Amino acid sequence: MTSIMDESEWSSRYRESNTKWDLGRSPGELLEFMRMQPAERTVLIPGCGRGYEISDLRRLGHSVCAVDFSEEAIRAAKSVIGDFADEIICGDFFGCDLPLGSFDICYERTFLCALPEELRERYGERIASLLKDGGVLAGVFHYGQPEDSDPPYPMTDDDRAHLLEGHFSLIADDPYESGLPVYSDHVERWQVWGKK
Ligand SMILES: C[S@@+](CC[C@H](N)C(=O)[O-])C[C@H]1O[C@@H](n2cnc3c(N)ncnc32)[C@H](O)[C@@H]1O
Repeated sequence: MTSIMDESEWSSRYRESNTKWDLGRSPGELLEFMRMQPAERTVLIPGCGRGYEISDLRRLGHSVCAVDFSEEAIRAAKSVIGDFADEIICGDFFGCDLPLGSFDICYERTFLCALPEELRERYGERIASLLKDGGVLAGVFHYGQPEDSDPPYPMTDDDRAHLLEGHFSLIADDPYESGLPVYSDHVERWQVWGKK
């Protein structure tokens, strides 16, 4: 049974700097992946938190649309990425108005594993609807046996089939080296999923 962390609970975490999930930088795996892109890409970042990736991807020449529903997260982003934080859309990723079929890449880091069950169920469909044909979902995915009622929730193999494989096909699966102690009981993989 997953618990629901609403906007106010996430905001409290940011206010109290209780943000153990925060890497403090963009993962090297993302930067390497983006440097391999042959052209400018439009990148969607759901649940962007402090959004280090926004400034890095913009500097690499890509366009970025980042979303987070926590005003405190966006305030915290402002303190680390400055004016780039002004571009973050403050809203519920599942309800806000985003252009369908318009992103090349959706970048995932610790958003899926933070969602309660009913939103996890909508994740694959929502992201697939926002990606262009030929678009990819790329990032770090968490595997293991969920044990706590609070996030983060790793995926079992059954979860992965249920949550992702209806909308995406796995096209790359590599080790992820930028892990944090808070995820030490998860198996973290850098994966790229192609939209079906
Ligand atoms: C574990 S944090 C990860 C933040 C960021 N991706 C990172 O790697 O540091 C999860 C983030 O998702 C945001 N979030 C959770 N549910 C959301 C929703 N339905 N819509 C938008 N943002 C959401 C939270 O406010 C929080 O910033």
